[in-house]
Amino acid sequence: MYSTMLPMLAQAKKDGKGVPAFNIHALEVVPMMARTAAEKKCPVILQVSVSTAKYIGFRLLSLMVKDVAGELDIPVALHLDHASKLEDIEGALAGGFSSVMYDGSRLPLDENIANTQKAVKLARDAGASIEAELGIVGRGKIIESYPYTDPDDAVQFVKETGVDALAVGIGTHHGQYKAKTNINLDVLRAIHEKVDTPLVLHGGTGVREEDVRTCIRLGMLKLNFGTELNVSWVRRAKEVFGECEPDESLRELMIRCNDAMADTIRKKIDLVRF
Ligand code: 13P
Repeated sequence: MYSTMLPMLAQAKKDGKGVPAFNIHALEVVPMMARTAAEKKCPVILQVSVSTAKYIGFRLLSLMVKDVAGELDIPVALHLDHASKLEDIEGALAGGFSSVMYDGSRLPLDENIANTQKAVKLARDAGASIEAELGIVGRGKIIESYPYTDPDDAVQFVKETGVDALAVGIGTHHGQYKAKTNINLDVLRAIHEKVDTPLVLHGGTGVREEDVRTCIRLGMLKLNFGTELNVSWVRRAKEVFGECEPDESLRELMIRCNDAMADTIRKKIDLVRF
């Protein structure tokens, strides 16, 4: 069934498990992602960047996710990832998304709080769940000096915004699939001791399996995986499309690529539902 993140995060907290969030880059993978999660009986958050959401169309994407979610016995959320403009949040909510993320992490604390409060109101009015970010998750070239989230700032942030989930900077980087991330578990532990709001792991691809499990124990209930899924699809596509005849069925070719991504999804689900 189509859902916000709220019931999934509440249940995950009770069970001591994580909820996986998988990044969509193209419509083709959507039914496969939701059905693979259902086969594993695992609630799932399907998420898109603003660019992907605009490439597909907010409404078209939400109609597809709602339709496939309707045939399944697991909760499925559609979440906008890293929106730094409130107008994109409005677009997603008007288009039927069940969840959004406002990312003001590059702003001073007071501005991040003020904008997040506006985003929270938009989400609440639409009956959607909302995530925000404090501290910085790296992107692209690895820079070791990204600021970690300050635990006291996190206390103030969740108190003043009332967000449903908080992404924190503990040293992870988006798109890191060639090396493993050195995360700072002491920072995470300090945040977890002071903040009850579910925390979010960004840049899940580069995080060691044992660290993912520790992160869940330390309050990270939403765990984002994007690049590794993309890599598994494209790697298979290079083989499949490289060796095929041009008149082979595009459907059959893409099913083989989807199968590779589904295998990665099953592994990630096993990792967060240990
Ligand atoms: P990765 O692509 O590094 O797995 O990160 C995904 C993510 O955090 C999306 O916000």
